[in-house]
Parts: sequence; C-alpha cells; structure tokens
Amino acid sequence: MAGLAMAASGVSQALSTHEGLRRVAPVVAAAAPARGVCLARRVCVQAIAEPVTKRDRTIEECEADVVAGNAPAAPAVPAKAKAPEGTPKISPLVMPARPRRNRRSPALRAAFQETTVSPANFILPLFVHEGEQNAPIGAMPGCQRLGWRHGLIDEVYKARDVGVNSVVLFPKVPDGLKTSCGSEAFNPDGLVPRCIRLLKDKFPDLVIYTDVALDPYSSDGHDGIVREDGVIMNDETVHQLCKQAVAQAQAGADVVSPSDMMDGRVGAIRNALDLAGYQDVSIMAYTAKYASAFYGPFREALDSNPRFGDKKTYQMNPANYREALIETRMDEAEGADILMVKPAMPYLDVIRLLRDNTSLPISAYQVSGEYSMIRAAAAAGMLDEKKAILESLLSIRRAGADVILTYFAIEAAQYLCAERF
Ligand code: PBG
Repeated sequence: MAGLAMAASGVSQALSTHEGLRRVAPVVAAAAPARGVCLARRVCVQAIAEPVTKRDRTIEECEADVVAGNAPAAPAVPAKAKAPEGTPKISPLVMPARPRRNRRSPALRAAFQETTVSPANFILPLFVHEGEQNAPIGAMPGCQRLGWRHGLIDEVYKARDVGVNSVVLFPKVPDGLKTSCGSEAFNPDGLVPRCIRLLKDKFPDLVIYTDVALDPYSSDGHDGIVREDGVIMNDETVHQLCKQAVAQAQAGADVVSPSDMMDGRVGAIRNALDLAGYQDVSIMAYTAKYASAFYGPFREALDSNPRFGDKKTYQMNPANYREALIETRMDEAEGADILMVKPAMPYLDVIRLLRDNTSLPISAYQVSGEYSMIRAAAAAGMLDEKKAILESLLSIRRAGADVILTYFAIEAAQYLCAERF
C-alpha cells in the first residue's frame, strides 16, 4: 500500500511539473520497498510516453460544462449488426426470461460457471512393474507399465510439474509370486511397499494412495480367496486385506483404498490400522464399485483377468441404484474417509446419489475402459480429444465428485495450465 501511494504521488508530481520521474524516482526508491519502486518506474514511463494533455480543470468546471449542455464527445453506440439476406422479419417473442443472456460472452460465461476442474482434483493411477524399462499397454494407448525405479519417478515428476500431487499405485506382479491366498500382497519388500518408500524418499509431500485387493497377487485373478466350489471367501479375504493395508501403511502410504468389495472390510482395516498405530492413514472405500465391462483394459495392463467366472458375487450389479446407499451407510459407519463410485461416466447418477446422501468427500474413478474409449475415438478422428477429455472430467465433477482418479491426469492438467495463461 505504501508503495502504491508513493507511486501515485510521484505521478501527480510529474504531471504538475511536466517533468519525467527520472529525477524524482530515486527519492521514491530510497524510501519505498522494492515493490513500490518497481510500480513507480512503470507508471513513470507511461507518464512520459503519453502526450501531455492539460488535465487541470476542476470537477466543478467539468460538471458545469455538462450542465450547460456541452457534454464531451464519446464513441457512438455501435450500429446494429445486420442479419443475413433472407432472415425472416418477425416480431420478437415476448418472454421475460432468456437464459442465453447469461451465456453471451466469455466473461459472462466464466462468471456464472458452476463447476470447475483443477489439477488438485486429480489422482493419477500408475502401473508399476519390476522391469527397468517402461512397457506400453496395448489396450490403453498412452499408458505404460512403469519401471519401478526410473520410469515411476519420471512420471511423478511430470505430474507434479502440472500440479498433480496424488497418485495411486497398481502393481504388475510376476506370475511366480501369485498364489491362491495372495500372500505377496503383504510382503513388506513387495513391489508396492518398495515403490512407496522410493516415492516418499524423493517426494515427501506426495499423496500416495494404494489399492487394497488380492487380484494382482492371486493366481485365480480374483479379489479374494477362492474356495474349491468357486465361492469368494469373505471374512478370510478381509483378514488378508488387513495385513495388506498395514504393510502399505508401514511403507508410508497416506490413503489405503480397498477395491475388493468384501463386506465389512472398511471397519476391519480401520481397526487393523489403528491397532498398528496408523491412526493417521486414511481409507478411501470403493463404496459403489460395479461389475463393469469397462475394467477390461486395466486387467490387460496388470494381466489380472479372473481365471474363471466373473466378479458379480462381490462387485455390484450395474442395474442397481438403491444398493449404493446400503454400501454408503456401511462404509460411513465403518470409518471410511472418502467414498468412491466406479466407473464414473456411466454412473454419474450414482455419484450424485452419494453426493446428496453423505457429507464425506466423494471420489470417482474414470476407469480404463472410459479412458480407452476416448483415446480410440480420437485416434479414429471421431472426437476432439482435448475437448472430450476436459468435458468428461467436468461432467464427473458436476455430478458431485470431489476428486477423480483418471489416467488423463497429466494431460488434462497440462491443458488446464495452458488455458490459464
Ligand atoms: C482391482 C481393481 C480393478 C480396477 C481397480 N482396482 C479391476 C477389477 O476390479 O477387476 C479397475 C480400474 C480400471 O479399470 O481402470 N481390484
């Protein structure tokens, strides 16, 4: 403020004495803070460059002119824009409300925009493997399995560079480590705990989410332990998930995210974390996770297709809406910190349902199939990729999601950063 005031007084001095601020400025500079100096100089240059017009008439004199009918000249009202030849001559519709009035210029549209998307809303899913090189994922053009040591770090650098500071890790586990009980899931030196330690060492403030489920570690490709008759065993699986979550917390995970859809796992995991001293580790529950065809590309990425059957006895029926509320009530009561809906775009109604029925933050997972659909359509020249990506993310936010897990996180954040300038 002091700097501004000095700059202003410098200007009026310059105008009244008709001299530049060159001689005055050093005096200002000596007294003003650095910012003020800078402002004063900028204003001076303008004062010198403009032709000096006399502006010393008082307000009273100016007002008297106007009262006497000598209003000063101002630009004319622009002529009415012409309609093309053949436009029908009609009398305008009589209607008081015309919603288009609020949409008629970029400034008005920006002023009344109800929803925004920011890189801070994104969580970037990362596929990691034991290899030293990155490997492309055929069904997800633009996504790779990252070498856990180098590729992973490079990708996180890229993300943080555009304001994406949250990631969720998905491991491609070697077949030789997959078993029917998925015990590799809680090996403290397994791929995920190693990645967490590496990332926390490099980027202590990075928010690391982990996936809690057995499928990447299961020789059956299911999220839980499979009984002889094909039944996915609930409580025994929850026991394993608790050990997995604690191992991830121990490595430094900030948020563990059970994606398995076993009953009661949120409460059990909360309890296990607390007992192990990880009261500060959050749980993002996959609350309404549907048995969806849109996970196809992800299962190729992790080579985690179920060896038999499907996941319909634990993931939700895509036809169901009310059932999402049952899961919501349970996850809330069991201590979830964030509730997720997955997939996102085909389930916007469910996102809205949760938004209206809980005070907890909502996350939505724009899954692999949603990603690949946009990529494929754009590659075929059927969609404008950038616009489709940003619109899909905006629509998920509009439905009520606070954060979005999206494979587009870096690209979308780059678009958003570029738009700002
Ligand atoms: C595994 C898991 C899946 C996804 C996230 N965690 C696949 C599945 O449930 O079969 C899917 C993510 C995606 O498709 O992008 N529990």
